Amino acid sequence: DRSIKIAPSILSADFANFGAEIRAIEAEGADWVHVDVMDGHFVPNLTFGPPAVKAFRPHVKTFMDVHLMISPVDAYIEAYAEAGADMITAHFEAGPHIHRTLQAIRAQGVKAGVVLNPATPAESVEHILDLCDMVLIMTVNPGFGGQKFIPSCLDKIRRVRAMIGDRPVHIQIDGGVTTETAPLVVEAGANVLVAGSAVFKGGSVEAPEVYGRNIRAI
Ligand code: DX5
Ligand code: ZN
Repeated sequence: DRSIKIAPSILSADFANFGAEIRAIEAEGADWVHVDVMDGHFVPNLTFGPPAVKAFRPHVKTFMDVHLMISPVDAYIEAYAEAGADMITAHFEAGPHIHRTLQAIRAQGVKAGVVLNPATPAESVEHILDLCDMVLIMTVNPGFGGQKFIPSCLDKIRRVRAMIGDRPVHIQIDGGVTTETAPLVVEAGANVLVAGSAVFKGGSVEAPEVYGRNIRAI
């Protein structure tokens, strides 16, 4: 299903009101809920452990997509699966063996995805596509919301799309997605768009019509 999906990142939500924030974005038409997990080591920021993700779960009626920016990652897969992730994505760069990591995610009965940082080539996914339900192409360096979109990633999206061919694999984009950049990434072949600061402003969900425009403009 390559229809366009919007996955708001709750990294930009009001941290004192996650339940209400999740319900609000879903009421406004969010397709997925994107959860950014950071370890203060792989990326220079810290966010949500498995108990936090478990607390989000009952509020998510759509699909909970858990982006693990942690290294090493394998030891935590089971905990995030048990916390209720529908999909777990792990970075190609997290090491040591992305193939093993993807197998471990699928062994938990959870959808699996690989994430490529801006400097990681498209060809990295060539031998692991059959283990992937999604390829996440970062369009900023991971760690923070509100950064500027890196345009050279558009070429990478096209290359990954060509490699995927007929396989049922989503291409997700994360970082700097706005009403200006969204059409560019969709044209290049992306179909799942993460959006943090474009959806939440000042720590709570934007006025519904603003959020609505973000969705429908894409
Ligand atoms: C960055 C995170 C993103 C981030 C996107 O490391 O993976 O999901 O929240 O934020 P925006 O949409 O503001 O660039
Ligand atoms: Zn993310």
